[in-house]
Amino acid sequence: MNTKIHAAITAVGGYVPPDKLTNQDLEKMVETNDEWIRTRTGITERRILKEPGKATSDMIVPAVQELCKKRGIDPTEIDCLIVGTVTPDMVFPSTANLVCHKLGATNAWGYDLSAACSGFLFALAQGAALIESGRYKKVVVCGADKMSAIVDYTDRATCIIFGDGAGAVLLEPTAAQLGVMDSILRTDGSGGQYLHMKAGGSLKPASAETVANREHFAYQEGQAVFKFAVKGMADVSAELMEKNNLKAEDISWLVPHQANLRIIDATANRMGLGTEKVMINIERFGNTTAATIPLCLWEWENQLKKGDNIILAAFGGGFTWGAIWVKWAYDTK
Ligand code: UT7
Repeated sequence: MNTKIHAAITAVGGYVPPDKLTNQDLEKMVETNDEWIRTRTGITERRILKEPGKATSDMIVPAVQELCKKRGIDPTEIDCLIVGTVTPDMVFPSTANLVCHKLGATNAWGYDLSAACSGFLFALAQGAALIESGRYKKVVVCGADKMSAIVDYTDRATCIIFGDGAGAVLLEPTAAQLGVMDSILRTDGSGGQYLHMKAGGSLKPASAETVANREHFAYQEGQAVFKFAVKGMADVSAELMEKNNLKAEDISWLVPHQANLRIIDATANRMGLGTEKVMINIERFGNTTAATIPLCLWEWENQLKKGDNIILAAFGGGFTWGAIWVKWAYDTK
């Protein structure tokens, strides 16, 4: 009998930097107030990587070290490491490259995947495919962003939502009906105009003028993104459930990208899920872009049970969006 190999998540790690940026701190930086931020976004504080000389890779390393420790493996056993990020340490080499070096993952290859807030989902689908091919036994999938490096702290509509963090999962093969079961992933480049970085790429290389014009920061038209995000994340999650004949009562958890509490609520409503089944940590971490979903898994790991049906869903810059159905593969002792 030909048994399909599934990619099971077998360990989770996470890292958030110690420094907090609260709504009260932001009140001193831009014309805003705690009440506006909390009611419009659900955010109270975010973590910021302040230590000089530290970058996205420095948040990923402790996250991966944690998952290796939990699983009892050495970094040299990792076959491949994929990093979903839009804030790589530098344009090249890839952050995955730097992370493998810092970890001592000397037998691994890897690459960065740029899909903004959907970065972890896209990377997870890629990692799962590598496992399902039968060629690789241990693939680490990371979602990490140091958004504070590209946020304009004079732009009150944008700076209030973002924070820094990293999360990672280990994928291993299983013959059981567990792990990454199905996914629907989408992109629409016509949405790029609403959320992007204007300069620093090959289209508009860095110059004194681009710096003066503040074109190396994330540019977001919040309302336009919001409109597409509410529909995109809810639609794709509902579509994934229908495709796999999953009813609301079959779902143990929704793990939504944490961009705005109102987008999360709309997605949960559309799926028929009560808030008790939704992982939400936006109030403490804000929007950490590619890190939001693995950071939720990291925080909720102790509550997850073998066989739980979990829907991961995201919407972000690009536009990119999607949903992945995961059957949780282990009980945490
Ligand atoms: O991570 C994936 C991609 N990103 C997203 O999914 C983010 C989606 N967008 C959003 O979450 C929301 O659009 C924001 C939270 C970014 C903004 O909230 P909004 O409800 O869409 O606000 P808005 O931009 O429509 O602005 C409404 C009003 C404006 O004032 P007027 O013109 O009505 O007088 C803004 O100037 O609120 C004002 N405003 C603020 N007021 C106080 C904008 N930012 C602030 C602020 N504090 N920080």
